[in-house]
Amino acid sequence: MKNFLFKPANFGIIPEDALLSIDQVKQLTPIALVARKDYLSNEIIAGETIDTPNYRVYNANPELTAYLETIFNFKFTAFYHIINTNLEKHIDPGRTLGINYLLSSGGSNVTTEFYDKQEPDRLIGSIVFPERQWYMLNVSVPHAVTADSIVDRFAIAITPVTRIF
Ligand SMILES: [Fe+2]
Repeated sequence: MKNFLFKPANFGIIPEDALLSIDQVKQLTPIALVARKDYLSNEIIAGETIDTPNYRVYNANPELTAYLETIFNFKFTAFYHIINTNLEKHIDPGRTLGINYLLSSGGSNVTTEFYDKQEPDRLIGSIVFPERQWYMLNVSVPHAVTADSIVDRFAIAITPVTRIF
């Protein structure tokens, strides 16, 4: 059980030469996102794969992966995310812990909100994440990302890989 919604993590600052720019990332082929169930409505959100122009995910470049392997003592996946939309309340499929590093906020006061699991209308925490600071997020708790406008929110998203066999 995780007793936090989000907390900063002392993994340091990623060196600039390990990072791609957002324009470089946009030249890559996005990962095909697999459909999932909406936990609130229990509806399948889409077919087998979905193209979501407002939310694209890309593999980390080898230089970034190599750097991250020097700071994490666990197996992980690393992706760039580029977001151009508010995100509805959801829990993340297939993971409970996310480790995020925001490169560009995508706007002013872009707020990540957390809601009570039993009472999904009840706001229990919120934060405007600062750029270039690692945070751990409990993504098993319903969360949303809201702002008046989100343009090119650019982040690195790490998921620890748990061995289950
Ligand atoms: Fe999420």
